[in-house]
Amino acid sequence: MRCLGIETSCDETALAIVENGKLVDAVMTTQAEVHALFGGVVPELASREHYRLIARMFDALMERCNLSYQDIDVVSVARGPGLLGSLLVGVGFAKGLVLAGGQRLIGVNHLHAHLLAAGLEQKLQFPALGLLVSGGHTHLYLVESPREFRLIGRTLDDAAGEAFDKVAKMLNLPYPGGRFIDVLGNMVEPDAKMFPRPYVDNDNLDFSFSGLKTAVGSWLNSHPSVALQFPLAEEQADSLLCERRLPENVAEDLPLVCASFNAAVADTLYIKTKRALGQLRSEGCEVRSVIVAGGVAANSRIRSSIAGLADEAGLVLHLPSFGLCTDNGAMIAYTGWLLAVQGLCHGLDLETMPRGRVIPDDYRMYSF
Ligand code: KG4
Ligand code: ZN
Repeated sequence: MRCLGIETSCDETALAIVENGKLVDAVMTTQAEVHALFGGVVPELASREHYRLIARMFDALMERCNLSYQDIDVVSVARGPGLLGSLLVGVGFAKGLVLAGGQRLIGVNHLHAHLLAAGLEQKLQFPALGLLVSGGHTHLYLVESPREFRLIGRTLDDAAGEAFDKVAKMLNLPYPGGRFIDVLGNMVEPDAKMFPRPYVDNDNLDFSFSGLKTAVGSWLNSHPSVALQFPLAEEQADSLLCERRLPENVAEDLPLVCASFNAAVADTLYIKTKRALGQLRSEGCEVRSVIVAGGVAANSRIRSSIAGLADEAGLVLHLPSFGLCTDNGAMIAYTGWLLAVQGLCHGLDLETMPRGRVIPDDYRMYSF
């Protein structure tokens, strides 16, 4: 079974083909440059970019795979959560293909797709404890199968990625700033006392990162010379990310702030994930693996801290490679394929679900 995946929920236009559970090929265009000027994603611009790109990227993918649209069996598309206008472009395109070619349509939950993406590289062991850390979400799930997700913890305010991006903005680092904080923070050891581990002195599984962001802001107010005085030029940003080269005239404490903030986020995620595991085990749930997914799962300090937790707890670790952490079409194609092999589908009345709305489990059984 050959499944096309379409991802347009935020600022990446991405398509991929998965055949019998394996990735065949993928194309992706990031709009980061379009939005960088504004320091965050501008929804109207995002949907226009998706609309401009999607058909030509589909053609490019078909050409690379030497396929035509009649060779596709299933069209899966991210139906939410995300930016409504952006989702509508992907879902509209998917419906157009299905109308023309008669394929099966499947709307995929973007968050579930992040968590299942690791299955493209490793056989997923269920039940799994899933930590989803992205620009818009910080969620803990009990994942019992590719269709059964129980949300057991979530952020009450900022998502982890949002905290990275906002702190990066305070430091005058480029958008999206998570990677820059990661690279700078790896240059020195963190100061564990510099920033708090927020919202851990309780017994719940929720997160709150806004206080940590405020703590970094207050520290920077009393150390105003630490933030970059001018935004980095493109070459400086590239050489920082690719060659780990620090630009000239950077304040000595900039890497220390990044390392200490990054460690505070990593420790908080570790504490709550470990607590979730303890609670699930005390309920008699025999968790077999831990999945870390979403853009922030690309963070080196977070990857090694959760890897340590999996090791201590005797769990299989599912940590997708970098390209499968951030938004991508492969995870949508793979999730669509997993659902399709269970005989599931949607009709042309498939609805898009913007952020904040619960995504229903409204699949139908496919009749051949
Ligand atoms: O999952 P994703 O690509 O998009 C959403 O669905 O939100 O996540 C994007 C987020 C951004 O906040 C970005 O700064 C963050 O992932 N990110 C990182 C790293 N790479 C991407 N955060 C920390 N360290 C990284 N290496
Ligand atoms: Zn995402």
